[in-house]
Amino acid sequence: MRLFPIAAIAALSVSLVACSKTENGSEAKTAPAPTATAGPSDAEKAALLATLPAPYNGGDLANGQRKFALCRSCHTIAEGGPALTGPNLYGVFGRQAGALADFAYSPAVKAAGFVWDGEHLDKWLADPRGFMPGTKMSFAGLKDPKDRIDLIAYLKVETGYKPAT
Ligand code: HEC
Repeated sequence: MRLFPIAAIAALSVSLVACSKTENGSEAKTAPAPTATAGPSDAEKAALLATLPAPYNGGDLANGQRKFALCRSCHTIAEGGPALTGPNLYGVFGRQAGALADFAYSPAVKAAGFVWDGEHLDKWLADPRGFMPGTKMSFAGLKDPKDRIDLIAYLKVETGYKPAT
């Protein structure tokens, strides 16, 4: 009887060893970890921020990133990211509104007829449905102008913005 717990522990450790062996084995088979983010470094982002037209060059990227939490349930921003409820936003600056072929925009956005820039985005984010009646983007609006500046600066830096758009 006194030997039983020892035997049990021994059996347990054997199975743990077996487990970790399996884990190591499968780890060895997985592809090498992808190199973190392929996007610009923080220094490059800061440099890009400084080149933005006012007032976005004074944007607070950390606050912009926090405000993007309001968007991320519906939008991805990485290059080649999937559409969610809303379209992928990579490259949105300088792009015609409603231009992505793989997203089913509302007729309102398709007919908007403008190219996204900071000023259009500012009005859109303040009150999407007031700015563009008929849009299916159900977002109440970001009321604080400084939050919108920070978010737009963040989006410009993160979505492959090219100066002069
Ligand atoms: C509940 C989901 C939802 C949220 C939250 C949301 N969006 Fe959208 N967004 C959409 C949808 C849906 C569309 C397409 C609208 C249409 O076709 O009328 C859209 C469209 C857009 C477009 C136009 C894209 C293009 O290709 O013309 C931009 C820019 C945009 N959203 C930015 C934002 C930002 C920035 C936020 C956060 C502040 C945000 N959205 C929050 C769902 C959302």
